[in-house]
Amino acid sequence: MKRLILITLSLLALATTAFAGSATPFPADWKSWTSMNTTLTGIGALPDCSADVSKLPPIYQKTVETYCSVKPGGPGKVSVLVKPSVGGDYASRSGKFADGSNMILHLKDMKVLFVTGHKGGKDVYGVFTEDGKDITAASGGLAAETCATCHSGYQAFCKGGQCGTKK
Ligand code: HEC
Repeated sequence: MKRLILITLSLLALATTAFAGSATPFPADWKSWTSMNTTLTGIGALPDCSADVSKLPPIYQKTVETYCSVKPGGPGKVSVLVKPSVGGDYASRSGKFADGSNMILHLKDMKVLFVTGHKGGKDVYGVFTEDGKDITAASGGLAAETCATCHSGYQAFCKGGQCGTKK
């Protein structure tokens, strides 16, 4: 009996460490969200690893470094979408957002949505296909942890999980 409990416990521990999933819900109505002009959408696309990005701010260089090898030619075209009801908070960079999924970095060529939400005021992250499949990974570029590390690590750029600025 004791052994069974031990096995059950270690299985549970394994399941917890291997668990990957979005910390924020899929924004099913994302197609009707507001498209923003930002530094990145001005550049237009995330390039491949051969691009010279040395003139860009460090956070953008790091973003390119993290994602440039996901596919030949780089991730490609992007857009930034913001839930209409939080558009004012995005524009003012208040750093305060209502709970729920609030912002999307849409990797258009890859048909993937990088989603930032808030839970109890804290920024949380997830990755979905355009039709809602949760593809948030346990480690690497598609892990919520990776998003959080960058989105909270550059104080000059990111506020409340929001890194870009409306242009
Ligand atoms: C190495 C840094 C870095 C990593 C890692 C990163 N991001 Fe970002 N992210 C940025 C930068 C910089 C911008 C702003 C780009 C712009 O619009 O100028 C951004 C923009 C966004 C936006 C649009 C709203 C905003 O914050 O401006 C969302 C949503 C987003 N990222 C989600 C994610 C998710 C989800 C992940 C993880 C799967 C992730 N990001 C990983 C740097 C990063």
